[in-house]
Amino acid sequence: MQRQTDTAPLNDSSSSYGLVSRLNHWIVAAAMIGMLVSGLVMAYGPFERETVFAIMGWHKAIGVLVLAYGIWRVGWRVVQGFIKQALVMPRWQAIAAQVTHWGLLVVVLAMPLSGLVMTIFRGREVDVFGLIIPAQNKIEWLANAAGITHQYVAWTLVGLLVLHIGGALKHHFIDSDMTLRRMGFRAA
Ligand code: HEM
Ligand code: HEM
Repeated sequence: MQRQTDTAPLNDSSSSYGLVSRLNHWIVAAAMIGMLVSGLVMAYGPFERETVFAIMGWHKAIGVLVLAYGIWRVGWRVVQGFIKQALVMPRWQAIAAQVTHWGLLVVVLAMPLSGLVMTIFRGREVDVFGLIIPAQNKIEWLANAAGITHQYVAWTLVGLLVLHIGGALKHHFIDSDMTLRRMGFRAA
């Protein structure tokens, strides 16, 4: 009896994402969306100071883990390169998708890095589940620049995600092509 394999191989091929890319995509996607929501809730939510403070602790600790995993995730994509588009599409759409993907990869590193720099150069340590990243001597201009970056890149991420998720849904429900399915966990 022939055994059916319905998982992808580990590495990407020219037209298909391997298992590593698919896992990397969804782990970092979930983490980044969670981090974005927690940041926006801290900044604009209705919570009291103590609650915001508690969320902030988690935000920083998980954010540093996202940075560590993000370096591996972005490195993997750079080494593997991007795969071919799932269908022939107008040139502007192909370019828009490529720019959005590169933008998202930059954001995956820029958000946690700016958060970390802002925090430690404001003279605060970061407790990553017991591992302490020590506070540095205060450098106000650096902490402020990182803080502004953190805020603006967050809104850039919101814009990129509207395009990215909108595009994925359009491919799936309107074009009915393989774009979304080949990022899933069934063979494609
Ligand atoms: C991993 C990705 C991350 C995302 C998507 C993210 C997102 C956000 C967002 C949306 C805000 C609210 C910004 C606003 O005021 O409009 C915020 C605030 C903040 N984030 Fe992050 N963050 C990330 C990582 C980190 C890390 C690693 C740290 C520190 C170790 C950090 C520290 C902070 C701090 C301290 C604030 C409050 C801002 C302030 O005091 O001015 N973030 N974050
Ligand atoms: C519900 C949310 C999301 C959906 C439905 C989604 C869907 C997809 C799909 C279908 C692809 C494949 C596109 C193609 O083959 O041309 C893709 C690729 C990609 N996505 Fe997402 N995505 C989501 C969230 C995110 C988030 C939050 C990030 C990063 C912050 C992200 C970053 C990327 C990147 C960089 C690629 C290019 C290939 C790779 O390196 O993985 N996605 N996404």
